[in-house]
Amino acid sequence: MTSVNTEKLSSARFAQATDAFVEIFTASVDFDQRMAVQDIQGSLAHAQMLNSIGILTDRELADIQAGLAQIQGEIERGEFSWSIKQEDVHMNIEARLTEMIGIAGKKLHTGRSRNDQVATDIRLYLRHEINVIKGQIKRLQLALLDLAELHADTIMPGFTHLQVAQPVTFGHHLMAWFEMLSRDQERLDDCCKRINVMPLGAAALAGTSYPIDRFMTAQLLGFSRPSNNSLDSVSDRDFAIEFTAAASLIMMHLSRFSEELILWASAQFNFIDIPDAFCTGSSIMPQKKNPDVPELVRGKSGRVAGHLMSLLMLMKGQPLAYNKDNQEDKEPLFDTVDTVVNCLRAFADMMPHVEAKKENMYQSAKRGFATATDLADYLVRKGMAFRDAHEVVGQAVRLGLSTGRDLSELGLDELQDFCSKVDVDVFQVLSLEGSVAARKHIGGTAPDAVRAAVRVARTLFH
Ligand code: ARG
Repeated sequence: MTSVNTEKLSSARFAQATDAFVEIFTASVDFDQRMAVQDIQGSLAHAQMLNSIGILTDRELADIQAGLAQIQGEIERGEFSWSIKQEDVHMNIEARLTEMIGIAGKKLHTGRSRNDQVATDIRLYLRHEINVIKGQIKRLQLALLDLAELHADTIMPGFTHLQVAQPVTFGHHLMAWFEMLSRDQERLDDCCKRINVMPLGAAALAGTSYPIDRFMTAQLLGFSRPSNNSLDSVSDRDFAIEFTAAASLIMMHLSRFSEELILWASAQFNFIDIPDAFCTGSSIMPQKKNPDVPELVRGKSGRVAGHLMSLLMLMKGQPLAYNKDNQEDKEPLFDTVDTVVNCLRAFADMMPHVEAKKENMYQSAKRGFATATDLADYLVRKGMAFRDAHEVVGQAVRLGLSTGRDLSELGLDELQDFCSKVDVDVFQVLSLEGSVAARKHIGGTAPDAVRAAVRVARTLFH
């Protein structure tokens, strides 16, 4: 019996060839070929397991191993000819294998389905990419630690509502960024626990009647265990959503860092210099130096949050078990990985070269009555109730504003007019240096506290 359509997957079932546009419309090989390495890795483990339970002979296993190795070489050298006739990465590789080694190639798919195969490939792929992302986060964190150490004593204004609030050290500000990234690392580790569970063996949805050894395959692929339920295994994409959520948080953090760098690099703040290599000029305004890298990173945070939404919406209406909808998980995932890796890389490359304009930072902190809280605390120490002290300091700030002076520039007699308890030791308190140095508890902004925080953080990396 000959079938009408000899090219088509499961062709015997079909009397008609696939519509030419539908073939293009349903194919995923253009993008899922990115998981070729993982697909081969999964097939090698599956074949070895099939051999151990007597389904593949030693000879067949050897042929499969040699064939897959050759295919991997062809792919790496760009010689592999991908075809949308074979729909996806899985069928392309299997078809080429069969072309090369014949019958053994046709036996490889025994006891599995593309449904458990693709779920396995994505997990292997993400596990690998998460390590790359973690490496880039670490590079950025190390750059921040170096900068924080260098600027443990550098004073700048700390802001709330983007209004000068209290003086802080630049090192302390950088260590705030470091903390955000530490949480990002933790979130990736946490999501890896759920990624590292093996769906292979679930087959199409119900498992398989062959006596497969899922523990063996899981061990060969470095998974912590086989999954518990075959229906869940082929349909679950929670891990992809979790990863994209973690990635969205990373991008949100990078976007916030970007916003600060952009503000600080402006003439109005003038706190930092971003080196020319990370900026571009304007095609019309010759004086311009634009902070393109942080601007682009801020902009790219939107697409990753968008991918998170795409994946949530992709899953929300699906009945168990596998549905073709799931093919739509790849492009958002791949773009999330690319975007996060590239943005982290650009940041990690740029940060070591960002220069702090210490004097400008210092003067800016001085102009904003940043030590007003210190004066209030001083009055409390001298026995005044905090609310009364708050009132007194408000009057002193008003005098400073009307006469164009900072609190530290008011005379002792002027301060004593507001409160007789003020003494000459007040000027130590009103200095920016005194203010930051006083906040020396764990988590505080004092230079010593920053140096201690950097020391503790460095131990995480060794
Ligand atoms: N290309 C498919 C995907 O990405 C592979 C699984 C196809 N399975 C199926 N029963 N059509 O999800």
